[in-house]
Amino acid sequence: MAGKYVVRTFGCQMNEHDSERIAGLLEADGMEPTTEVADADVVVLNTCCIRENADNSLYGTLGHLKSLKDRRPELEIVVAGCLAQKDQDSIAQRAPHVDVVMGTHNVHRAVELLHERRRTDSTVVEILSETVAEDHELFPSALPVVRQAGYAGWVTIQMGCDNSCAFCIVPAVRGPEISRPFGDIVAEVERAAADGVTEITLLGQNVNSYGRDLTLRLRGREGATTESLDDRFLVGSAWTEADGSRVRPLFADLLRSVGSVPGIRRVRYTSPHPKDLRPETIEAMAQVPTVCEHLHLPLQSGSDTILAAMHRGYTAERYLSRLAEARAGIPDLAVTTDIIVGFPGETDADAAATLEVAAEAGYDGAFTFVYSPRPGTEAGEMTERFVDHDVAVDRMARLRQVIERSSLRSNEARVGRLDEVLVLGPSKRDPNRLSGRTRQNRLVHFTPPSPLRPGTYVQVQVTSATTTSLLGEFVDVVSTPSHRTRIPVTAG
Ligand code: 5AD
Ligand code: SF4
Repeated sequence: MAGKYVVRTFGCQMNEHDSERIAGLLEADGMEPTTEVADADVVVLNTCCIRENADNSLYGTLGHLKSLKDRRPELEIVVAGCLAQKDQDSIAQRAPHVDVVMGTHNVHRAVELLHERRRTDSTVVEILSETVAEDHELFPSALPVVRQAGYAGWVTIQMGCDNSCAFCIVPAVRGPEISRPFGDIVAEVERAAADGVTEITLLGQNVNSYGRDLTLRLRGREGATTESLDDRFLVGSAWTEADGSRVRPLFADLLRSVGSVPGIRRVRYTSPHPKDLRPETIEAMAQVPTVCEHLHLPLQSGSDTILAAMHRGYTAERYLSRLAEARAGIPDLAVTTDIIVGFPGETDADAAATLEVAAEAGYDGAFTFVYSPRPGTEAGEMTERFVDHDVAVDRMARLRQVIERSSLRSNEARVGRLDEVLVLGPSKRDPNRLSGRTRQNRLVHFTPPSPLRPGTYVQVQVTSATTTSLLGEFVDVVSTPSHRTRIPVTAG
């Protein structure tokens, strides 16, 4: 295929990751990247459906593309990702100018579906209900890749989610948990390191349960033994007990292996579920020097009543004690979270409990969301318990104050310290400055003595702090990047 493409990504890092694979497949087929929709022959919208405004923004973008396509009928529009998985045929009904609709389980089919569209001259819709579980080559991480930032790599370690949080549509659109073979993950990180990637982020909906599906699959099979597992899962000896009781690698084993790949300077991961945060993971974070001192631990609510209604599997006290163990085990740990306000049935007392737990947790930052009903989820049916929108917005404002108080406090505590910063690029506000991230994922702005490429590691002395960022003075270059520079994928 000749011509130019652009991929616009909505939603989470899993989607960013899938977009990089779609870009890689299109380029392997002969297409070139562009950052402008106006120049593109193929526009891929990789969609999200976690909250309602994601739906609205897709249909808004499709409306805009319609006028472009009226002028240039050869323009091809692909809708991929979670919203495609959820809405399926109705996307093509609502927006007949869409050429291809593809779901979350067939990222590897992007090019074939475009070819099919050209052959058949009618809208192609392919939504698979699940990934072909036994064929681990189909993990999007195994596909060709065009990385948005050459020094950073995202690696999927697990697809789907086996939990059933009452608010969440992810299990419906991403399917059950499937772990990627251990050996494949490490090999992918080794390949990325050879390409000059120095920062790896391991991705999964529930990374701490990595490998659990292998145990379940083995238990489900008559006469199954560890020998019946694919060889690529069998790495080291750490994960199998002599009595055979543990027949899976732990996430902690993965952190250790990935963290010791030569060339990798930083390992991050997102997200662990608080109920599955194991002591082994905390120990690995503390012991492996490349694993960053940052834990994103979604709280969702501080009220035990709401946590139970959400089916989160922990109480506020349990959450706080896990967090205290992590802080005790990992010096200098930064902690961030996700919190939903206005879950159906949330009372003033529940909201006050969330404020208390958030204050006690002392977060460095938080993604806070007003509850958004998702069709087909348990909470989406609780219409008679929905919280008034204005009440939720008011609770959110108070929660933001609590979060900002602790994030300012922890940022101010960095003033005067030396921090290692990975340069991302020019600061959005002041092009003379560079922005980067510390190991704890704090945003830092500083003025370099001479131009520095994104991907450079520098030492910065922190001079001042706000709730969202640090300001610092350049001290020294620690390491220069070796990746090729290209930025073909734009974020939506
Ligand atoms: N409404 C609001 N926020 C939600 N999240 C997931 N589902 C919903 C919903 N229906 C939030 C959770 C999750 C984050 C990725 O998105 O906090 O951790
Ligand atoms: Fe959704 Fe809960 Fe699974 Fe996270 S753990 S993806 S919130 S169901």
